[in-house]
Amino acid sequence: MTGIESLPVRDELRGKTPYGAPQLDVPVRLNTNENPYPLPEELVRRIAERVTEAARTLNRYPDRDALALREALAGYLTRTTGFSVSPAQVWAANGSNEVIQQLLQTFGGPGRTAIGFEPSYSMHGLISRGTGTGWLSGPRREDFTVDTRAAAEAIAEHRPEVVFVCSPNNPTGTAVDRETVVALYEAAQAARPSMVVVDEAYGEFSHRPSLLPLIEGRPNLVVTRTMSKAFGAAGLRLGYLAADPAVVDAVQLVRLPYHLSAVTQATALAALEHTGTLLGYVERLKGERDRLVRELRAIGCEVTESDANFVQFGRFEDAHATWQALLEHGVLVRDNGVPGRLRVTAGTPEENDAFLDAVRAVTKENPR
Ligand SMILES: Cc1ncc(COP(=O)(O)O)c(C=O)c1O
Repeated sequence: MTGIESLPVRDELRGKTPYGAPQLDVPVRLNTNENPYPLPEELVRRIAERVTEAARTLNRYPDRDALALREALAGYLTRTTGFSVSPAQVWAANGSNEVIQQLLQTFGGPGRTAIGFEPSYSMHGLISRGTGTGWLSGPRREDFTVDTRAAAEAIAEHRPEVVFVCSPNNPTGTAVDRETVVALYEAAQAARPSMVVVDEAYGEFSHRPSLLPLIEGRPNLVVTRTMSKAFGAAGLRLGYLAADPAVVDAVQLVRLPYHLSAVTQATALAALEHTGTLLGYVERLKGERDRLVRELRAIGCEVTESDANFVQFGRFEDAHATWQALLEHGVLVRDNGVPGRLRVTAGTPEENDAFLDAVRAVTKENPR
């Protein structure tokens, strides 16, 4: 047996740890922003039918261009945002992480840089590193909103090839204004020009309209989405983007041939037939998210405004000790390393009650 350190791995990977939230077996798991509702039985049956059909031709490679799926995704985006999207503007991959990886392989890479406004989704930086793209940490205000002027200045100074804007932002839940995205896009075009990637993984949970219509007339703007959250299908691994068709053509240069299995395509198509029911769960979760915000504030926590299916709360002298104490009460939340703060995913009403009881107990045991 040899250790990783004895292997000739790339220098920038040495001493690094892989991404991953603890997968612990506890009664209440609210740490990975999953949807707590299992897929409805009717949809489970439809998936079985569609997958059975796909299984009959598994001797063949799948549709490399995922045409039927892209058409269904374009229809979903058009219906839910009111902005008309064509299949040629949509691309899908195994989770939005893979979409982001393909974007960085296409527009980043050695000698190039990407910027995000942190704290934000740590995979933007990690996938940058994995693709040899330099990572730049841009600023955020104390209240976790993006300071348009400071962010535009950082873009002008560093001239990154890729700019990430996460809205709603993980782990803070903060949405980004349309005007801010427009200003950052303009700053990014003036600097080089570069690609602006708006990560809307939590878009369906927002109080605000999608930023998707901003792709109109902005050929270097990409919006990424996922079926992992609103669709309650994290296990499916299906993410997608919408952008100018030229962006879709460009990512063809790096995608692996037949990257999206026939089983994945069939399952995603089945889920897209049930968007009405699935978006009903989203409405319930938005209500629970708002309740978490209210009740955490009533307990005396400082809570960041949230447009996502999770809530950032604090402030704790030692956030990790509070994380541990909540775990001892059977509740797993996430410590994203934001000083004094933790993040909780909105679960079922019962899970949220258990979480709130645990917070009450822990704050009573250790008054802040
Ligand atoms: C902001 C953001 N983007 C992208 C993803 C990746 O989602 P997936 O690869 O499951 O589509 C996540 C997952 O937590 C996320 O929080």
